[in-house]
Amino acid sequence: MECPKEPLGSQCSLSEMDDFDLTRALDKPRLKIERKRSFDERSMSELSTGYSRHDLDMAHSPGSRSFVDTPLSYVRNSFEPHPMVAEAWEALRRSMVFFRGQPVGTIAAYDHASEEVLNYDQVFVRDFVPSALAFLMNGEPDIVKNFLLKTLQLQGWEKRVDRFKLGEGVMPASFKVLHDPVRKTDTIAADFGESAIGRVAPVDSGFWWIILLRAYTKSTGDLTLSETPECQRGIRLILSLCLSEGFDTFPTLLCADGCSMVDRRMGVYGYPIEIQALFFMALRSALSMLKHDEEGREFIEKIVKRLHALSFHMRNYFWLDFQQLNDIYRYKTEEYSHTAVNKFNVMPDSIPDWVFDFMPLRGGYFVGNVSPARMDFRWFSLGNCVAILSSLATPDQSMAIMDLLEHRWEELIGEMPLKICYPCIESHEWRIVTGCDPKNTRWSYHNGGSWPVLLWMLTAACIKTGRPQIARRAIDLIESRLHRDCWPEYYDGKLGRYVGKQARKFQTWSIAGYLVAKMMLEDPSHIGMISLEEDKQMKPVIKRSASWTC
Ligand code: GLC
Repeated sequence: MECPKEPLGSQCSLSEMDDFDLTRALDKPRLKIERKRSFDERSMSELSTGYSRHDLDMAHSPGSRSFVDTPLSYVRNSFEPHPMVAEAWEALRRSMVFFRGQPVGTIAAYDHASEEVLNYDQVFVRDFVPSALAFLMNGEPDIVKNFLLKTLQLQGWEKRVDRFKLGEGVMPASFKVLHDPVRKTDTIAADFGESAIGRVAPVDSGFWWIILLRAYTKSTGDLTLSETPECQRGIRLILSLCLSEGFDTFPTLLCADGCSMVDRRMGVYGYPIEIQALFFMALRSALSMLKHDEEGREFIEKIVKRLHALSFHMRNYFWLDFQQLNDIYRYKTEEYSHTAVNKFNVMPDSIPDWVFDFMPLRGGYFVGNVSPARMDFRWFSLGNCVAILSSLATPDQSMAIMDLLEHRWEELIGEMPLKICYPCIESHEWRIVTGCDPKNTRWSYHNGGSWPVLLWMLTAACIKTGRPQIARRAIDLIESRLHRDCWPEYYDGKLGRYVGKQARKFQTWSIAGYLVAKMMLEDPSHIGMISLEEDKQMKPVIKRSASWTC
Protein backbone atom coordinates (compact mmCIF):
# COMPACT_ATOMS: atom_id res chain seq x y z
CA MET A 1 0.00 0.00 0.00
CA GLU A 2 1.28 3.42 -0.93
CA CYS A 3 2.26 5.79 1.85
CA PRO A 4 1.28 9.44 1.71
CA LYS A 5 4.03 11.69 0.45
CA GLU A 6 6.03 13.57 3.02
CA PRO A 7 4.70 17.12 3.00
CA LEU A 8 6.94 20.14 3.01
CA GLY A 9 6.81 22.72 5.69
CA SER A 10 3.88 21.54 7.78
CA GLN A 11 3.92 20.06 11.21
CA CYS A 12 0.53 18.52 11.39
CA SER A 13 -1.12 16.18 8.97
CA LEU A 14 -4.33 14.30 8.48
CA SER A 15 -3.01 10.96 9.56
CA GLU A 16 -2.29 12.25 13.02
CA MET A 17 -5.82 13.24 13.62
CA ASP A 18 -7.25 10.03 14.99
CA ASP A 19 -5.26 10.32 18.17
CA PHE A 20 -5.14 14.08 18.07
CA ASP A 21 -4.88 15.48 21.54
CA LEU A 22 -6.56 18.85 21.78
CA THR A 23 -4.63 20.03 24.78
CA ARG A 24 -1.29 19.13 23.29
CA ALA A 25 -2.19 20.74 19.98
CA LEU A 26 -1.78 24.13 21.53
CA ASP A 27 1.82 23.84 22.52
CA LYS A 28 3.62 20.95 20.88
CA PRO A 29 3.96 20.10 17.21
CA ARG A 30 3.55 16.33 16.72
CA LEU A 31 6.45 14.11 15.80
CA LYS A 32 6.84 13.64 12.08
CA ILE A 33 7.41 9.93 12.48
CA GLU A 34 3.75 9.41 13.29
CA ARG A 35 2.74 10.79 9.95
CA LYS A 36 4.17 7.70 8.30
CA ARG A 37 1.07 5.75 9.31
CA SER A 38 -0.78 5.23 6.10
CA PHE A 39 -4.17 6.70 5.41
CA ASP A 40 -5.62 3.25 4.98
CA GLU A 41 -4.42 2.16 8.36
CA ARG A 42 -6.24 5.12 9.84
CA SER A 43 -9.40 4.46 7.89
CA MET A 44 -9.54 1.01 9.32
CA SER A 45 -8.99 2.10 12.85
CA GLU A 46 -12.07 4.23 12.42
CA LEU A 47 -14.25 1.27 11.73
CA SER A 48 -16.18 -0.52 14.37
CA THR A 49 -17.23 -4.11 14.37
CA GLY A 50 -19.59 -5.50 11.78
CA TYR A 51 -16.91 -6.40 9.26
CA SER A 52 -14.48 -9.24 9.17
CA ARG A 53 -10.76 -8.63 8.95
CA HIS A 54 -11.00 -9.86 5.36
CA ASP A 55 -13.47 -7.09 4.53
CA LEU A 56 -11.19 -4.55 6.06
CA ASP A 57 -8.16 -5.89 4.26
CA MET A 58 -9.78 -4.96 0.99
CA ALA A 59 -8.66 -1.43 1.67
CA HIS A 60 -8.64 1.22 -0.98
CA SER A 61 -5.24 2.04 -2.28
CA PRO A 62 -4.93 5.68 -3.29
CA GLY A 63 -4.10 6.37 -6.88
CA SER A 64 -3.91 2.72 -7.83
CA ARG A 65 -6.75 2.78 -10.34
CA SER A 66 -6.41 3.19 -14.02
CA PHE A 67 -9.89 2.32 -15.29
CA VAL A 68 -11.80 5.39 -16.18
CA ASP A 69 -15.18 4.21 -17.26
CA THR A 70 -15.54 1.00 -15.36
CA PRO A 71 -16.53 1.43 -11.75
CA LEU A 72 -13.96 -0.08 -9.46
CA SER A 73 -16.66 -2.12 -7.76
CA TYR A 74 -17.10 -4.11 -10.98
CA VAL A 75 -13.50 -5.07 -11.04
CA ARG A 76 -13.13 -6.01 -7.42
CA ASN A 77 -16.09 -8.28 -6.91
CA SER A 78 -16.66 -11.62 -8.41
CA PHE A 79 -20.41 -11.39 -7.80
CA GLU A 80 -22.61 -9.49 -10.23
CA PRO A 81 -23.22 -5.90 -9.25
CA HIS A 82 -26.78 -4.62 -9.16
CA PRO A 83 -27.75 -3.45 -12.67
CA MET A 84 -28.63 -0.06 -11.18
CA VAL A 85 -24.97 0.61 -10.48
CA ALA A 86 -24.02 0.85 -14.16
CA GLU A 87 -27.07 3.02 -14.88
CA ALA A 88 -26.13 5.28 -11.99
CA TRP A 89 -22.57 5.74 -13.22
CA GLU A 90 -23.85 6.60 -16.66
CA ALA A 91 -26.29 9.14 -15.24
CA LEU A 92 -23.63 10.61 -12.96
CA ARG A 93 -21.23 11.08 -15.86
CA ARG A 94 -23.97 12.72 -17.90
CA SER A 95 -24.33 15.36 -15.19
CA MET A 96 -20.68 16.41 -15.33
CA VAL A 97 -19.98 20.08 -16.00
CA PHE A 98 -16.87 21.26 -17.83
CA PHE A 99 -15.05 24.56 -17.65
CA ARG A 100 -12.54 25.12 -20.45
CA GLY A 101 -12.38 21.42 -21.04
CA GLN A 102 -11.86 20.42 -17.42
CA PRO A 103 -14.54 18.70 -15.32
CA VAL A 104 -15.41 21.01 -12.39
CA GLY A 105 -18.59 19.57 -10.91
CA THR A 106 -21.98 17.99 -11.56
CA ILE A 107 -25.30 19.77 -12.15
CA ALA A 108 -28.05 19.38 -9.56
CA ALA A 109 -30.49 17.66 -11.93
CA TYR A 110 -30.43 16.54 -15.53
CA ASP A 111 -34.19 16.65 -15.95
CA HIS A 112 -35.13 17.63 -19.48
CA ALA A 113 -38.76 16.70 -18.98
CA SER A 114 -39.21 19.36 -16.34
CA GLU A 115 -40.66 22.65 -17.66
CA GLU A 116 -38.88 24.72 -15.07
CA VAL A 117 -35.14 24.47 -14.82
CA LEU A 118 -34.83 27.17 -12.10
CA ASN A 119 -31.30 26.72 -10.79
CA TYR A 120 -31.17 22.93 -11.05
CA ASP A 121 -28.77 23.30 -14.00
CA GLN A 122 -26.13 24.68 -11.63
CA VAL A 123 -23.36 22.99 -9.66
CA PHE A 124 -24.39 23.21 -6.01
CA VAL A 125 -21.61 22.89 -3.45
CA ARG A 126 -23.63 20.69 -1.09
CA ASP A 127 -25.02 18.60 -3.96
CA PHE A 128 -21.56 17.94 -5.35
CA VAL A 129 -20.34 16.28 -2.13
CA PRO A 130 -21.78 12.80 -2.83
CA SER A 131 -20.67 13.07 -6.47
CA ALA A 132 -17.18 13.95 -5.26
CA LEU A 133 -17.11 11.01 -2.87
CA ALA A 134 -18.25 8.67 -5.65
CA PHE A 135 -15.45 9.90 -7.91
CA LEU A 136 -12.87 9.66 -5.12
CA MET A 137 -13.97 6.16 -4.22
CA ASN A 138 -13.69 5.22 -7.87
CA GLY A 139 -10.15 6.56 -8.07
CA GLU A 140 -11.03 9.69 -10.10
CA PRO A 141 -9.86 12.61 -7.96
CA ASP A 142 -9.29 15.20 -10.71
CA ILE A 143 -12.84 16.50 -10.90
CA VAL A 144 -12.81 16.93 -7.11
CA LYS A 145 -9.54 18.84 -7.16
CA ASN A 146 -10.82 21.09 -9.97
CA PHE A 147 -14.04 21.72 -8.07
CA LEU A 148 -12.16 22.62 -4.88
CA LEU A 149 -9.94 25.04 -6.75
CA LYS A 150 -12.75 26.59 -8.77
CA THR A 151 -14.92 27.24 -5.71
CA LEU A 152 -11.87 28.60 -3.89
CA GLN A 153 -11.48 31.10 -6.70
CA LEU A 154 -15.14 32.05 -6.42
CA GLN A 155 -14.72 32.63 -2.69
CA GLY A 156 -12.39 35.46 -3.65
CA TRP A 157 -15.15 37.34 -5.49
CA GLU A 158 -16.73 40.39 -3.95
CA LYS A 159 -20.22 39.40 -2.84
CA ARG A 160 -23.11 41.81 -2.42
CA VAL A 161 -26.81 41.67 -1.76
CA ASP A 162 -28.13 45.06 -2.84
CA ARG A 163 -25.76 47.48 -1.16
CA PHE A 164 -24.58 45.11 1.53
CA LYS A 165 -21.23 43.37 1.25
CA LEU A 166 -21.02 39.77 2.51
CA GLY A 167 -18.14 38.34 4.52
CA GLU A 168 -14.99 37.51 2.57
CA GLY A 169 -15.04 33.81 3.42
CA VAL A 170 -18.54 33.01 2.14
CA MET A 171 -18.51 30.13 -0.34
CA PRO A 172 -21.13 30.02 -3.10
CA ALA A 173 -24.31 27.98 -2.83
CA SER A 174 -23.94 27.15 -6.51
CA PHE A 175 -22.30 28.19 -9.75
CA LYS A 176 -23.09 27.88 -13.41
CA VAL A 177 -20.76 27.52 -16.39
CA LEU A 178 -21.86 29.61 -19.35
CA HIS A 179 -20.61 28.42 -22.73
CA ASP A 180 -20.43 30.91 -25.57
CA PRO A 181 -20.49 28.75 -28.71
CA VAL A 182 -19.60 31.66 -30.99
CA ARG A 183 -16.64 33.03 -29.14
CA LYS A 184 -15.85 29.58 -27.78
CA THR A 185 -15.37 30.87 -24.27
CA ASP A 186 -16.54 29.64 -20.90
CA THR A 187 -17.46 31.96 -18.04
CA ILE A 188 -18.81 31.34 -14.57
CA ALA A 189 -21.74 32.90 -12.73
CA ALA A 190 -21.93 32.16 -9.01
CA ASP A 191 -24.70 32.56 -6.45
CA PHE A 192 -23.78 33.41 -2.87
CA GLY A 193 -27.35 33.94 -1.80
CA GLU A 194 -27.99 37.09 -3.79
CA SER A 195 -30.10 35.20 -6.34
CA ALA A 196 -31.30 32.38 -4.11
CA ILE A 197 -34.96 32.23 -3.18
CA GLY A 198 -35.15 34.10 0.12
CA ARG A 199 -31.70 35.69 -0.36
CA VAL A 200 -29.97 33.57 2.27
CA ALA A 201 -26.24 32.85 2.14
CA PRO A 202 -25.40 29.13 2.41
CA VAL A 203 -23.71 28.59 5.77
CA ASP A 204 -23.16 24.92 4.95
CA SER A 205 -21.15 25.47 1.72
CA GLY A 206 -17.94 26.54 3.46
CA PHE A 207 -18.18 23.65 5.91
CA TRP A 208 -18.74 21.12 3.12
CA TRP A 209 -15.79 22.62 1.25
CA ILE A 210 -13.46 22.01 4.20
CA ILE A 211 -14.87 18.51 4.76
CA LEU A 212 -14.39 17.70 1.08
CA LEU A 213 -10.83 19.02 1.05
CA ARG A 214 -10.04 16.61 3.86
CA ALA A 215 -11.80 13.75 2.04
CA TYR A 216 -9.76 14.49 -1.09
CA THR A 217 -6.53 14.61 0.89
CA LYS A 218 -7.30 11.46 2.77
CA SER A 219 -8.37 9.51 -0.28
CA THR A 220 -5.49 10.50 -2.54
CA GLY A 221 -2.72 10.94 0.01
CA ASP A 222 -1.93 14.16 -1.84
CA LEU A 223 -1.16 16.70 0.86
CA THR A 224 0.07 19.29 -1.61
CA LEU A 225 -3.39 20.68 -2.37
CA SER A 226 -4.49 21.40 1.20
CA GLU A 227 -1.06 22.82 1.98
CA THR A 228 -1.06 25.46 -0.74
CA PRO A 229 -1.20 29.01 0.65
CA GLU A 230 -4.48 29.47 -1.28
CA CYS A 231 -6.21 26.52 0.40
CA GLN A 232 -4.82 27.45 3.81
CA ARG A 233 -6.18 30.97 3.32
CA GLY A 234 -9.54 29.61 2.11
CA ILE A 235 -9.88 27.53 5.27
CA ARG A 236 -8.97 30.49 7.48
CA LEU A 237 -11.45 32.77 5.73
CA ILE A 238 -14.30 30.30 6.23
CA LEU A 239 -13.36 29.86 9.86
CA SER A 240 -13.03 33.55 10.58
CA LEU A 241 -16.72 33.91 9.66
CA CYS A 242 -17.77 31.59 12.45
CA LEU A 243 -15.06 31.96 15.08
CA SER A 244 -15.32 35.72 15.55
CA GLU A 245 -16.40 36.98 18.94
CA GLY A 246 -19.69 38.79 19.34
CA PHE A 247 -22.76 38.78 21.53
CA ASP A 248 -23.06 35.00 21.61
CA THR A 249 -23.56 33.26 24.91
CA PHE A 250 -23.54 29.82 23.26
CA PRO A 251 -20.74 28.12 21.27
CA THR A 252 -23.26 27.05 18.62
CA LEU A 253 -23.63 29.07 15.42
CA LEU A 254 -26.60 31.40 15.03
CA CYS A 255 -28.24 31.05 11.60
CA ALA A 256 -31.07 32.32 9.45
CA ASP A 257 -33.76 30.01 8.11
CA GLY A 258 -32.90 28.46 4.75
CA CYS A 259 -29.12 28.58 5.02
CA SER A 260 -28.46 24.87 4.43
CA MET A 261 -29.94 21.83 2.70
CA VAL A 262 -33.34 22.96 3.97
CA ASP A 263 -33.09 26.11 1.90
CA ARG A 264 -36.56 27.52 2.54
CA ARG A 265 -38.32 28.76 5.59
CA MET A 266 -38.98 25.74 7.78
CA GLY A 267 -38.54 27.04 11.32
CA VAL A 268 -34.89 25.97 11.47
CA TYR A 269 -33.54 29.45 12.22
CA GLY A 270 -31.53 29.78 15.41
CA TYR A 271 -29.14 26.93 16.08
CA PRO A 272 -30.13 24.15 13.65
CA ILE A 273 -28.58 20.74 14.29
CA GLU A 274 -27.55 20.37 10.63
CA ILE A 275 -25.31 23.43 10.81
CA GLN A 276 -23.96 22.66 14.29
CA ALA A 277 -22.93 19.14 13.27
CA LEU A 278 -21.31 20.38 10.04
CA PHE A 279 -19.61 23.19 11.96
CA PHE A 280 -18.15 20.66 14.38
CA MET A 281 -16.98 18.39 11.56
CA ALA A 282 -15.48 21.29 9.60
CA LEU A 283 -13.61 22.51 12.69
CA ARG A 284 -12.12 19.09 13.27
CA SER A 285 -11.27 18.67 9.59
CA ALA A 286 -9.63 22.11 9.51
CA LEU A 287 -7.62 21.24 12.60
CA SER A 288 -6.11 18.32 10.73
CA MET A 289 -5.15 20.43 7.73
CA LEU A 290 -4.08 23.82 9.07
CA LYS A 291 -0.36 24.38 9.15
CA HIS A 292 1.24 25.27 12.44
CA ASP A 293 2.66 28.49 11.01
CA GLU A 294 1.98 31.86 12.59
CA GLU A 295 -1.42 32.42 10.97
CA GLY A 296 -2.44 28.81 11.36
CA ARG A 297 -1.63 28.62 15.06
CA GLU A 298 -3.94 31.47 15.90
CA PHE A 299 -6.83 29.56 14.32
CA ILE A 300 -5.80 26.25 15.82
CA GLU A 301 -6.02 27.76 19.29
CA LYS A 302 -9.47 29.15 18.59
CA ILE A 303 -10.68 25.87 17.09
CA VAL A 304 -9.50 23.83 20.05
CA LYS A 305 -11.32 26.07 22.51
CA ARG A 306 -14.47 26.13 20.42
CA LEU A 307 -14.53 22.36 19.99
CA HIS A 308 -14.43 21.86 23.74
CA ALA A 309 -17.30 24.25 24.32
CA LEU A 310 -19.32 23.09 21.33
CA SER A 311 -19.14 19.39 22.13
CA PHE A 312 -20.10 20.06 25.75
CA HIS A 313 -23.06 22.20 24.73
CA MET A 314 -24.35 19.83 22.06
CA ARG A 315 -23.92 16.61 24.02
CA ASN A 316 -25.71 18.07 26.99
CA TYR A 317 -28.36 20.43 25.75
CA PHE A 318 -29.27 19.03 22.32
CA TRP A 319 -29.34 15.42 23.42
CA LEU A 320 -32.75 13.86 24.04
CA ASP A 321 -33.51 10.38 25.27
CA PHE A 322 -36.20 8.90 27.46
CA GLN A 323 -34.65 10.08 30.69
CA GLN A 324 -33.85 13.55 29.40
CA LEU A 325 -37.39 13.90 28.07
CA ASN A 326 -38.73 12.94 31.45
CA ASP A 327 -36.43 15.49 33.08
CA ILE A 328 -37.65 18.26 30.78
CA TYR A 329 -41.25 17.20 31.38
CA ARG A 330 -40.68 17.81 35.10
CA TYR A 331 -38.67 21.01 34.68
CA LYS A 332 -39.33 23.98 36.89
CA THR A 333 -39.39 27.24 34.99
CA GLU A 334 -38.30 30.81 35.76
CA GLU A 335 -35.14 29.67 37.54
CA TYR A 336 -32.60 32.39 37.97
CA SER A 337 -28.82 32.22 38.58
CA HIS A 338 -26.07 29.68 38.01
CA THR A 339 -27.83 26.89 39.81
CA ALA A 340 -30.68 26.72 37.28
CA VAL A 341 -31.34 23.22 35.97
CA ASN A 342 -33.63 24.43 33.20
CA LYS A 343 -31.00 26.76 31.81
CA PHE A 344 -32.89 27.88 28.70
CA ASN A 345 -36.22 28.18 30.48
CA VAL A 346 -37.94 25.59 28.31
CA MET A 347 -41.65 25.39 29.16
CA PRO A 348 -42.69 21.76 29.66
CA ASP A 349 -46.03 22.66 28.05
CA SER A 350 -44.19 23.33 24.80
CA ILE A 351 -43.20 19.65 24.47
CA PRO A 352 -45.25 18.34 21.54
CA ASP A 353 -47.48 15.31 22.17
CA TRP A 354 -45.92 13.19 19.43
CA VAL A 355 -42.51 13.06 21.09
CA PHE A 356 -43.82 11.21 24.17
CA ASP A 357 -44.98 8.33 21.96
CA PHE A 358 -42.05 8.54 19.58
CA MET A 359 -39.31 8.21 22.21
CA PRO A 360 -38.32 4.59 22.81
CA LEU A 361 -36.95 3.44 26.15
CA ARG A 362 -33.68 2.67 24.38
CA GLY A 363 -32.45 5.22 21.91
CA GLY A 364 -32.09 8.96 21.56
CA TYR A 365 -31.15 11.77 19.18
CA PHE A 366 -29.97 15.34 18.87
CA VAL A 367 -33.02 17.61 18.67
CA GLY A 368 -33.43 20.11 15.85
CA ASN A 369 -32.70 23.31 17.74
CA VAL A 370 -32.14 24.73 21.23
CA SER A 371 -32.41 28.40 22.12
CA PRO A 372 -34.04 30.43 24.90
CA ALA A 373 -37.45 28.93 25.73
CA ARG A 374 -37.39 27.09 22.42
CA MET A 375 -36.61 23.47 21.86
CA ASP A 376 -37.42 22.09 18.44
CA PHE A 377 -38.02 18.43 19.16
CA ARG A 378 -38.08 17.39 15.50
CA TRP A 379 -35.65 14.72 14.30
CA PHE A 380 -33.35 15.79 11.45
CA SER A 381 -31.48 13.01 9.64
CA LEU A 382 -28.54 14.93 8.21
CA GLY A 383 -27.52 16.50 11.53
CA ASN A 384 -27.75 13.21 13.40
CA CYS A 385 -25.78 11.27 10.78
CA VAL A 386 -23.07 13.96 10.63
CA ALA A 387 -22.96 13.95 14.45
CA ILE A 388 -22.08 10.25 14.27
CA LEU A 389 -19.55 10.67 11.46
CA SER A 390 -17.76 13.59 13.11
CA SER A 391 -17.87 11.95 16.57
CA LEU A 392 -19.79 14.91 17.90
CA ALA A 393 -21.96 12.14 19.29
CA THR A 394 -20.22 10.06 21.96
CA PRO A 395 -20.06 6.32 21.19
CA ASP A 396 -23.07 5.79 23.47
CA GLN A 397 -25.01 8.53 21.77
CA SER A 398 -24.13 7.14 18.33
CA MET A 399 -25.45 3.75 19.36
CA ALA A 400 -28.59 5.37 20.76
CA ILE A 401 -29.22 7.17 17.45
CA MET A 402 -28.96 3.85 15.60
CA ASP A 403 -31.27 2.22 18.16
CA LEU A 404 -33.82 4.93 17.52
CA LEU A 405 -33.55 4.43 13.76
CA GLU A 406 -34.19 0.73 14.16
CA HIS A 407 -36.99 1.26 16.60
CA ARG A 408 -38.70 3.94 14.53
CA TRP A 409 -38.03 2.39 11.14
CA GLU A 410 -41.53 3.02 9.81
CA GLU A 411 -41.49 6.68 10.78
CA LEU A 412 -37.92 7.56 9.77
CA ILE A 413 -37.33 5.26 6.83
CA GLY A 414 -40.72 3.88 5.84
CA GLU A 415 -40.78 2.78 2.23
CA MET A 416 -38.08 5.14 0.98
CA PRO A 417 -34.97 6.20 2.88
CA LEU A 418 -34.70 8.73 4.44
CA LYS A 419 -36.96 11.30 6.09
CA ILE A 420 -35.28 14.69 6.04
CA CYS A 421 -37.08 15.46 9.29
CA TYR A 422 -39.78 13.96 11.45
CA PRO A 423 -42.61 14.69 11.94
CA CYS A 424 -44.08 17.15 9.46
CA ILE A 425 -45.80 20.33 10.48
CA GLU A 426 -49.35 21.01 9.34
CA SER A 427 -52.38 23.30 9.50
CA HIS A 428 -51.94 26.41 11.57
CA GLU A 429 -48.37 25.57 12.52
CA TRP A 430 -47.47 25.10 8.82
CA ARG A 431 -48.98 28.52 8.04
CA ILE A 432 -47.02 30.24 10.78
CA VAL A 433 -43.74 28.37 10.47
CA THR A 434 -43.35 28.11 6.67
CA GLY A 435 -45.26 31.27 5.77
CA CYS A 436 -47.79 29.09 3.85
CA ASP A 437 -45.13 27.56 1.58
CA PRO A 438 -46.99 25.45 -1.04
CA LYS A 439 -43.87 23.36 -1.73
CA ASN A 440 -43.45 22.46 1.92
CA THR A 441 -46.91 21.06 2.59
CA ARG A 442 -47.16 18.19 5.08
CA TRP A 443 -45.01 15.12 4.36
CA SER A 444 -43.52 16.78 1.29
CA TYR A 445 -40.11 18.20 0.32
CA HIS A 446 -38.40 19.67 3.42
CA ASN A 447 -41.47 19.15 5.55
CA GLY A 448 -41.16 15.45 6.33
CA GLY A 449 -40.32 14.40 2.75
CA SER A 450 -38.00 11.44 2.06
CA TRP A 451 -34.66 12.19 0.38
CA PRO A 452 -32.72 9.33 -1.23
CA VAL A 453 -29.51 11.39 -1.10
CA LEU A 454 -29.43 10.88 2.66
CA LEU A 455 -28.78 7.17 2.07
CA TRP A 456 -25.02 7.71 1.84
CA MET A 457 -24.88 9.42 5.21
CA LEU A 458 -27.05 6.75 6.79
CA THR A 459 -24.83 4.04 5.31
CA ALA A 460 -21.67 5.74 6.58
CA ALA A 461 -23.21 6.08 10.05
CA CYS A 462 -24.25 2.41 9.97
CA ILE A 463 -20.74 1.30 9.05
CA LYS A 464 -19.16 3.50 11.68
CA THR A 465 -21.42 2.11 14.41
CA GLY A 466 -20.96 -1.45 13.22
CA ARG A 467 -24.53 -1.91 11.96
CA PRO A 468 -24.19 -2.45 8.19
CA GLN A 469 -27.35 -4.56 8.16
CA ILE A 470 -29.42 -1.40 8.67
CA ALA A 471 -27.83 0.15 5.60
CA ARG A 472 -28.43 -3.01 3.58
CA ARG A 473 -32.14 -2.88 4.42
CA ALA A 474 -32.28 0.76 3.35
CA ILE A 475 -30.38 0.06 0.13
CA ASP A 476 -32.82 -2.75 -0.73
CA LEU A 477 -35.67 -0.26 -0.50
CA ILE A 478 -33.85 2.20 -2.74
CA GLU A 479 -33.05 -0.51 -5.28
CA SER A 480 -36.68 -1.51 -5.53
CA ARG A 481 -37.74 1.93 -6.80
CA LEU A 482 -35.18 4.65 -7.41
CA HIS A 483 -34.15 3.69 -10.91
CA ARG A 484 -37.69 2.82 -11.99
CA ASP A 485 -38.82 6.23 -10.78
CA CYS A 486 -35.92 7.94 -12.64
CA TRP A 487 -33.90 8.99 -9.58
CA PRO A 488 -36.25 11.57 -8.05
CA GLU A 489 -35.06 14.32 -5.78
CA TYR A 490 -37.51 13.42 -3.00
CA TYR A 491 -40.60 11.39 -2.17
CA ASP A 492 -43.81 12.49 -0.46
CA GLY A 493 -46.13 10.92 2.07
CA LYS A 494 -45.93 9.59 5.57
CA LEU A 495 -44.10 6.48 4.36
CA GLY A 496 -42.33 8.17 1.45
CA ARG A 497 -44.36 6.16 -1.03
CA TYR A 498 -45.05 8.80 -3.68
CA VAL A 499 -42.61 10.54 -6.01
CA GLY A 500 -42.48 14.12 -4.74
CA LYS A 501 -45.00 16.55 -6.18
CA GLN A 502 -42.36 18.92 -7.54
CA ALA A 503 -39.41 16.55 -7.37
CA ARG A 504 -36.89 16.76 -10.19
CA LYS A 505 -36.04 13.51 -11.95
CA PHE A 506 -32.42 12.46 -12.51
CA GLN A 507 -31.41 14.41 -9.43
CA THR A 508 -27.65 13.97 -9.31
CA TRP A 509 -27.22 13.63 -5.57
CA SER A 510 -29.88 10.87 -5.45
CA ILE A 511 -27.78 9.01 -8.04
CA ALA A 512 -24.40 9.70 -6.43
CA GLY A 513 -25.71 9.01 -2.91
CA TYR A 514 -26.72 5.53 -4.03
CA LEU A 515 -23.32 4.84 -5.58
CA VAL A 516 -21.46 6.07 -2.50
CA ALA A 517 -23.60 3.90 -0.23
CA LYS A 518 -22.93 0.84 -2.42
CA MET A 519 -19.20 1.46 -2.60
CA MET A 520 -18.89 2.00 1.14
CA LEU A 521 -20.69 -1.23 1.92
CA GLU A 522 -18.46 -3.10 -0.52
CA ASP A 523 -15.30 -1.53 0.81
CA PRO A 524 -15.88 -0.13 4.29
CA SER A 525 -12.42 1.42 4.45
CA HIS A 526 -13.80 4.21 2.25
CA ILE A 527 -15.56 5.58 5.28
CA GLY A 528 -12.26 7.01 6.54
CA MET A 529 -12.67 9.83 4.02
CA ILE A 530 -15.78 11.08 5.68
CA SER A 531 -15.47 9.98 9.27
CA LEU A 532 -13.50 11.25 12.25
CA GLU A 533 -12.64 9.14 15.20
CA GLU A 534 -13.62 10.11 18.71
CA ASP A 535 -11.30 12.56 20.39
CA LYS A 536 -10.53 10.96 23.70
CA GLN A 537 -9.59 14.29 25.24
CA MET A 538 -13.01 15.81 24.93
CA LYS A 539 -14.88 15.78 28.19
CA PRO A 540 -17.49 13.02 28.56
CA VAL A 541 -21.12 14.01 28.69
CA ILE A 542 -22.36 15.14 32.07
CA LYS A 543 -25.59 13.49 33.10
CA ARG A 544 -28.18 16.06 34.07
CA SER A 545 -30.91 14.36 35.95
CA ALA A 546 -31.26 16.74 38.85
CA SER A 547 -35.02 16.77 38.62
CA TRP A 548 -35.22 13.01 38.15
CA THR A 549 -36.51 11.37 41.31
CA CYS A 550 -37.44 7.77 41.75
C1 GLC B 1 -33.25 22.10 -3.27
C2 GLC B 1 -32.69 21.57 -1.97
C3 GLC B 1 -31.26 21.99 -1.78
C4 GLC B 1 -30.44 21.58 -2.99
C5 GLC B 1 -31.04 22.15 -4.26
C6 GLC B 1 -30.37 21.67 -5.51
O1 GLC B 1 -33.43 23.46 -3.21
O2 GLC B 1 -33.47 22.00 -0.90
O3 GLC B 1 -30.75 21.44 -0.61
O4 GLC B 1 -29.12 21.99 -2.83
O5 GLC B 1 -32.41 21.78 -4.36
O6 GLC B 1 -30.51 20.30 -5.63
